[in-house]
Amino acid sequence: MSERKRMTLPGLFKKVSEGQPITWLTCYDYPTAYLQDQAGVDMILVGDSLGMTMLGFDSTLPVTMEDMVRHTAAVRRGAPNVWLVGDMPYMTYQPSVETAIRHAGRFMAECGCDAVKLEGGAEMADRIAGIARSGIPVIGHLGLTPQSVSALGGFKLQGKGAAQARKIVEDATALEEAGAFCILLELVPDRVCELITERAKHCIIMSLGAGLKAHGQLLIYHDAFGLYPKFKPRMAKVFADAGAVIREGLNAYVKEVTERTFPKQENWFGMPDEEYAELVRMLNGDRDAR
Ligand code: KIV
Repeated sequence: MSERKRMTLPGLFKKVSEGQPITWLTCYDYPTAYLQDQAGVDMILVGDSLGMTMLGFDSTLPVTMEDMVRHTAAVRRGAPNVWLVGDMPYMTYQPSVETAIRHAGRFMAECGCDAVKLEGGAEMADRIAGIARSGIPVIGHLGLTPQSVSALGGFKLQGKGAAQARKIVEDATALEEAGAFCILLELVPDRVCELITERAKHCIIMSLGAGLKAHGQLLIYHDAFGLYPKFKPRMAKVFADAGAVIREGLNAYVKEVTERTFPKQENWFGMPDEEYAELVRMLNGDRDAR
């Protein structure tokens, strides 16, 4: 088992104060969580991106709270030491502050989360404040916010022009003032990310495709390890092509079973001769008695 110490909120802020980048990946299942914990990843996000990466939908909108609870609890069992963030799915916080607090509480009580994340700017500040006042660490998410993909006109860079960038900078201030301890900036220009990071007072700024000047980086696990078949976004790097390795293994499995070269003696269990002879006698006796 892992020897590492469990990550804490002071531990994350210590990394920031020491200028050490925070590492953050998405994860949706027990075995991958185990590997990420063993690798020393600081934070895991069980993203509602699981709708796309694990369930094959074209967006995150069909993901339910029940989907999230099931996967997030599995991730916690695999990764006891990471700072675990549950991603609030579509319409579990938009309707009201109370709805937001109730669903955030489920992530903490039922999944063992350390924090929750929700999408949106100043218009979500009251949800952020309500969750934070309930004693739940909360993360804001600005820039490309996939639950609003339709309103944003697609999965594309946000804040390229000065007016839109100003809104993102102001939203970041509003979320920090409301009590967010961390803000994720997804797909905004690096200079906008740098400005927000410089202005943050007590808030950790994380980047997903927003450059190096944040306090740390987030990547979607499936993009970073060649596991999403539909496309690879520019913001991701493939650190290891697990998809190619698995494909190769699958081809070998189909070939060996087809050619009867798998399984081999070491892959099955035998039976002592006397037990087998007794079995045959018993079966023959049963047949003769019929
Ligand atoms: O659901 C998710 O994985 C996310 C990332 C895109 C940041 O919210």
